[in-house]
Amino acid sequence: MVDVVTIIDSRSGKSIELPLLHGTHGSPVFDIGRLYRELGYFTLDPGFLSTASCHSAVTFIDGEQGILLYRGYPIEQLAENSSFLEVAYLLMRGELPMQQQLDNFTALINHHSMINESLKNFYLGFNHDAHPMAIMVGVVGSLSAFYHDSTDIHDPAHREIAALRMIAKMPTIAAASYKHSIGEPFVYPSNKHSYAGNLLHMMFSVPSEEYVVDPVAEKALDLIFVLHADHEQNASTSTVRLAGSSGANPFACIASGIAALWGPAHGGANEAVLRMLEEIGDISNISKFITRAKNKKDPFRLMGFGHRIYKNYDPRARIIRDMCHKVLGKLGDEQDPLFELAMRLEEVALNDDYFIEKKLYPNVDFYSGLIYRALGIPINMFTVMFAIARTVGWAAHWTEMIGEPEQRIGRPRQLYVGPQHRDYQPIDQR
Ligand code: SDX
Repeated sequence: MVDVVTIIDSRSGKSIELPLLHGTHGSPVFDIGRLYRELGYFTLDPGFLSTASCHSAVTFIDGEQGILLYRGYPIEQLAENSSFLEVAYLLMRGELPMQQQLDNFTALINHHSMINESLKNFYLGFNHDAHPMAIMVGVVGSLSAFYHDSTDIHDPAHREIAALRMIAKMPTIAAASYKHSIGEPFVYPSNKHSYAGNLLHMMFSVPSEEYVVDPVAEKALDLIFVLHADHEQNASTSTVRLAGSSGANPFACIASGIAALWGPAHGGANEAVLRMLEEIGDISNISKFITRAKNKKDPFRLMGFGHRIYKNYDPRARIIRDMCHKVLGKLGDEQDPLFELAMRLEEVALNDDYFIEKKLYPNVDFYSGLIYRALGIPINMFTVMFAIARTVGWAAHWTEMIGEPEQRIGRPRQLYVGPQHRDYQPIDQR
């Protein structure tokens, strides 16, 4: 017996039974696909507060309990035991790899980590003060001009190589955008390094001297990448899905995800948190900023706080907060005044009635910037770090969507509130 939800139209007396679908975990959904055809109505849900856009097997979030599962595995266990490339394999292929599978996957990623030499000319078109996220949107979008052999999206082999190329090339493209901003020569990837180690090598080594990857920094970056790899149907992932639903080139779809991630309400929050902490400056100013955050007339928001889904502590924020203590200590920043300020700000906010009543907790972006800063990563590269990691999630969701037999173009409707039908008036009669 199928669960149904019955909708009765009080105007016409007509009714419709909509099937209630149950997933593995989480809230059931009722399928409204027939609603317009049979009752002539759309549904309205700006911001998609109550709308599921798809079926997905990639990631599950329970915002009330603060639960995050990648292909069923709790983020806490993956953070403790896994690595970014193993998590990338898991998200892309659905299962944890055997050792040989992981070795082969790692070799494939290494094999595709270089970018076409002529792509270097693309960077020359940007001023040195160009925001690296602007460079990322442009350069990643341009990859479709270089890889004609992996854009037949209906060929699973093409889909696989496009996804692998994206995951492999993001650190190289990101590091080059950083090098361009500081006027240093680009550094080629070196396959002797891990994924995170290679990024540090490409960002911080220079031709004139030996660069040794700090294992503490490498492990911290790898863990942050694990935590940022995927997060269900967030704004940037939904953007990638919608772009991909038209059959657009996969590299262009990832570029659309980078653009969406850049916003301060989304991935741009990690950069905004650091700028906010620098603006607050001292513990004595906290109450003034908490007051501003609660003032509806003031556009100031407590960056790094609040989440559309988590009405509990973001499990990723808890892991990063614990990591801050360890990493800042080992990297010699244990007394980082901004870390002290962040912890005090969190304590004040979590005990404030406004934040308690609205269930506003620190999210993944609240502490991540402090670790990036301790690793020597400049503030305008923080969201680029997020984009590198989230490319795995975007690729996994794009692959899942394109591979669905019933896949069709996404085309939402609207509630039209514009002018009524009217006739054109010649200019001399207006
Ligand atoms: C990410 O979706 C994802 O999964 C995203 C992400 C991922 O991994 O992909 O988790 C990554 O984007 C994390 C979020 C990073 N953004 C920030 O830290 C920016 C600051 N946070 C807010 O802008 C806000 O909390 C959002 C954007 C995160 C969530 O916005 P919602 O769900 O639309 O909630 P809302 O803006 O409607 O807020 C509900 C209420 C409002 O008050 P009322 O109108 O009900 O009176 O809470 C208030 C808001 O004013 N509020 C805040 C606040 N966040 C919400 N008030 C002060 N400071 C804040 N940070």
